[in-house]
Amino acid sequence: MLLHPFSVFAAVMMLMTAFCQSPANQPTCIAVQGIPGIPGLPGRDGPKGDKGDAGPPGQGLKGVQGPPGKAGPAGQKGSTGSPGQKGDQGQKGANGSPGITGASGTPGLKGATGFAGTPGLAGAQGMKGAQGPLGNAGPAGQKGSTGSPGSKGDQGLKGAAGTPGIPGAPCDMSRVITLEKQLSDLQKTMALNQKVLQLLSKSWKVGAKTFFTGGTISNFANAKSECARVGSRLAVPINEAENKALEEIVKKVNKEAWLAMSDEKTEGKFVYLDGNPIKYSKWNPGEPNDHKHAEDCVEIQSTGKWNDRSCSDDHLVICEL
Ligand code: GLC
Ligand code: CA
Ligand code: CA
Repeated sequence: MLLHPFSVFAAVMMLMTAFCQSPANQPTCIAVQGIPGIPGLPGRDGPKGDKGDAGPPGQGLKGVQGPPGKAGPAGQKGSTGSPGQKGDQGQKGANGSPGITGASGTPGLKGATGFAGTPGLAGAQGMKGAQGPLGNAGPAGQKGSTGSPGSKGDQGLKGAAGTPGIPGAPCDMSRVITLEKQLSDLQKTMALNQKVLQLLSKSWKVGAKTFFTGGTISNFANAKSECARVGSRLAVPINEAENKALEEIVKKVNKEAWLAMSDEKTEGKFVYLDGNPIKYSKWNPGEPNDHKHAEDCVEIQSTGKWNDRSCSDDHLVICEL
């Protein structure tokens, strides 16, 4: 334990005073009342001493009784007690309010059919009514089947003898050859007519227009009159669809066809037959070129393209209606 240096000094001084005042030590005591020395520096802490023996029990006075302690925590809940005795019967309660009316039940099953009544008595017969108006005439009946043929008539009388024929010419070889040639020409014409008939049986309808051909091949002037002769006019396309139809015919017959236009009146100015300038064209590149200054009419080729040609050339005649 650290003691204040001044307290140590005071304790030494008290011991010394006590020792000098003790009567047993009087002969050796030399009382010197010098000036108290300067208090020394506090000593270093000594080593810790051994634990002392237990002291004798104290004999203090009995203290005054302390105030009563605080109430301890609540004890555990005790076990449930045994049930008490049954009480007396209570008084009768008042009547309850009436219950809500229940929903109506499902209807009962239909009753069995009753017995038939007894028939009434027959009434007396009525009087005859007046005659009704005349009814409408019914539809005409179906035609009857054809009757069987009548029996064959009697044979007619023999006719009078005819007048004798003209005597035949003597056989001539050159005439036979001529006839053979005529026959061959006739066969060719018939074959061509056959083709034309096939073409005539087909016409090309484009919009409101109809194109057709009799297969005639002729110059421009004849082509125009050919169509007029059958109540139509030479064909001329005024749009792509019509041009396509004419292209088809040219391909089929394999011959270029005339178109109803020309620049006969003013070179380079192509007009329809009524004199109006053309509104639609499909020239080949480089056409019209008025080749040799002699091309005033127009042909349509199998490509559908146009070329100006000499009006005296022969081309297919296609008419329109
Ligand atoms: C050539 C020319 C053409 C002309 C024709 C006459 O094909 O290209 O313009 O009309 O000959 O035969
Ligand atoms: Ca021309
Ligand atoms: Ca030309």
